Order: sequence, then structure tokens, then C-alpha cells
Amino acid sequence: FGLMTYDPGFSNTASCRSAITYIDGEKGILEHRGIPIEQLAESSSFLEVSYLLLYGHLPNQQQLDEWVHEITHHTYVHENIKRFMEGFRHDANPMGMLLASVGALSTFYPEAVDIRDEEQRHISAVRMIAKMPTLAAFAYRNAMGLPYVYPDNDLSYTGNFLSMLFKMAEPRYVPDPRIEKALDVLFILHADHEQNCSAAAVRVAGSSLPDPFSAIAAGVAGLYGPLHGGANVAVLKMLQRIGSVDNIPGFLQGVKDGNERLMGFGHRVYKNYDPRARIIRSHVDEVLEATNKQSVLLDIAIELEKRALDDEYFTSRKLYPNVDYWSGIIYEAMNIPTDAFTVMFAIGRTPGWMAQWMEMMDDPELKIARPRQIYTGAREADYVPMNQRN
Ligand code: CMC
Repeated sequence: FGLMTYDPGFSNTASCRSAITYIDGEKGILEHRGIPIEQLAESSSFLEVSYLLLYGHLPNQQQLDEWVHEITHHTYVHENIKRFMEGFRHDANPMGMLLASVGALSTFYPEAVDIRDEEQRHISAVRMIAKMPTLAAFAYRNAMGLPYVYPDNDLSYTGNFLSMLFKMAEPRYVPDPRIEKALDVLFILHADHEQNCSAAAVRVAGSSLPDPFSAIAAGVAGLYGPLHGGANVAVLKMLQRIGSVDNIPGFLQGVKDGNERLMGFGHRVYKNYDPRARIIRSHVDEVLEATNKQSVLLDIAIELEKRALDDEYFTSRKLYPNVDYWSGIIYEAMNIPTDAFTVMFAIGRTPGWMAQWMEMMDDPELKIARPRQIYTGAREADYVPMNQRN
């Protein structure tokens, strides 16, 4: 094949240089702009982490205040976007709705195509981060058959999102601070993860220089699938299917026989416990307490994890829980319907996608993504008229 290398799934190909996120998969280390994820989850906020990812440093107080103010005042979407979303079927998957409506934003902000203009890039990032929860909440309300709730900009970023999801009566929804905090931490944990499938999709689509909303829509599509963001849905469905601790051995045998995968386990980069999974796990009990819920699935998840971590099949392949193993249990405790789990991931990942896109726009080595292939088909075949075909 000449100088070409064959690398299906790009597991051994660096597609860019990046200074945003560092991962050491062997040691289970994740850092954003050099700061360990544990410190960010403990001390920062999702909007502060968003700023850090996009602009490369922690904001000072004035920068943070301005940033939060800007995001808070761009949470509304155009009424026609709302109408567009009302056109979906009642049972439309919220991720499908999100994918379409993020793409549609490009038609509402055509000026965003001026990707060389720094002001435009900044306002596109603000719009994308501000409007994602609104679009996600509208998709959720559509699934529930409930009227949409407009943003309440007196609330925090996550408080407003909870209000748009759950508000039932006037004058306002008051979020439980424990849930608000846990959700903010969940968003931080999802904020970026270097060249994962969806970020790579953003970069591939963005490399042909469309507006950023179109590039992010490609990222949402990449996130949709069960091997990436859709894994949190798949984990919950798997736990429901297992149904009882007694069924775990039989289920694990099925996985080892190759019938299915243990969803929420394994990672292309982490060959150790995913640090995000550890942090999420530490918030599960507090959320269950705040919502006053008993989770039958939690007992199954705890026992399943224990057995898998003791099993040679998983340890020899370095398969450990990833971020999606525990997140579904928290979302379920928060009364988020299973089909909407992946849109939660999408909200969290939005600043990462935007940061990857912005970094690429400044990259002097940027080239259109255009991999090659190893052709395996026929050559120089003749066209056969219809009456001579089998
Ligand atoms: N259950 C059982 N076996 C597994 C699993 C699993 N979850 N993951 C990998 N394996 C096995 C696989 O069968 C293979 O075994 P063998 O060497 O005998 O053929 C070996 O481990 C290596 O697997 P791979 O498919 O080559 O690894 P990959 O790096 O291509 O896949 C993955 C990574 C995340 C797609 C995969 O581990 C997986 O499908 N996990 C379940 C889905 C999941 O939880 N996805 C969320 C990923 S983290 C968050 C995110 O990205 O959104």
C-alpha cells in the first residue's frame, strides 16, 4: 500500500496537535489545560470549566462574571426553532431532535460562517453553550407531552436547566441545591475528552470550514450511538434486563461467550478505572438521598462491577468501568427518562466540542480531513445491460 498505514478506528493515529485535554489511560489520569479532573469537579463550576477549555486559562472574577452573564443572556432560542421542534412526532428520540435542532441553528445565525472573525467565534461558542440546555429540555418536554418552559435566567446554568425540565407551575421552579450541584459536576465530568468519536466528528466536519453549529451537529450524531454517548442508555437497559443480583453470573457468562458487551465497561484509552466514573460514583448516594429514592438498579450495578473487576476475562483485557457506567443511575434518580440520558452527555460535552473546533480554526497546520482507503472491490468491470443480468 505504498506509504499508507491501515488503521481502522484510528486507534494509532494522532489527527491533530492539541493543548486542551491530557489523558494517561494506563494511570487513569485526566487533566484539562493541565488541571486534574478531580480538582475541577471538587472546586470549579461547569461554566468556569467551559471558559478554561475554550480560552486556555481559568478566568479571573471579572472574566467569569462576564462569561456567566453572556451565557445566561443567550439561553433563549428563536420562536421558529421552538416551532420546528414542535413538528416532531410525540415519540421522537430526544437525541434525534437535538441533532436536528443544533444543525438548524446554523440557519438562524448565518453570520457564524465567518469563522476567521474572533468575535463571531466567541459569540457562536456562547450561543452553543447557552442554547444546548434549552434545546435538550424542549426535546425532553416533547417526549413527555408537556408544554415547553422558557429559560429562567435568574437561576444558575444547571438550575435553569432543571427548571426547563421539571417546572409544572408558576411562578417558578426552585431546584434542590444538591441536585443542582451533582448535575453541575456531571456536566464538568463530560466537558471534554480529547479525540473521542464525537470530537473527531466535529473536527472532520469542521475541517471543510462550515459554520460551527453544523460541525457540532456532526458531533451530536457521533455521540448518539451506543458505543459512545448512547452507552449510558444501554447501561440502564442492561441493568433493567438483568433485573436481579441472582442473574448476574448468567449475564456475565453471556458476555464472556461473546453474545453481548458489558456496557459501561472498557475504553479505547483508559486501561484503568476511568477517573470520571470514580467521581460520579461518589455522588450517587447523595442524589438518591436528595430525591428520596431507592434504586434497585444500584444494587445490581454494585454487584456487577464487583464481579467483573474480580473476573479474569475483564482484568486481562483491562476493562474497567467508564463514565457511562454510573451516570445513568444518577439520571434515573433525577427522574430523567432513559431516552434523554444522552442529551445530558451532549450538554456537558458542548464546551469541549467548541474548544476543539476553535483550536482547529487557529491551527496553522489545519488541512481538510480526507483519509485514504485500501480498495478491495472489483476493477475495470463492464456495464451489463439489464436484459443480460442474472
Ligand atoms: N464488554 C465485553 N468485552 C469487551 C468490552 C465490553 N464492554 N469492551 C471491550 N471488550 C473486549 C472485546 O471483545 C475485545 O476482546 P478480544 O480481544 O477477545 O476480541 C477486547 O475487549 C478489546 O475490545 P475492542 O472493541 O477492540 O476495544 P475498543 O477500544 O475498540 O472499544 C469501546 C472501546 C468503549 C467501544 C468498548 O470497550 C465497548 O464497546 N464498551 C462498551 C460500550 C461503552 O461503555 N461505551 C462508552 C465508552 S466511554 C464514554 C464514551 O466514549 O462515550
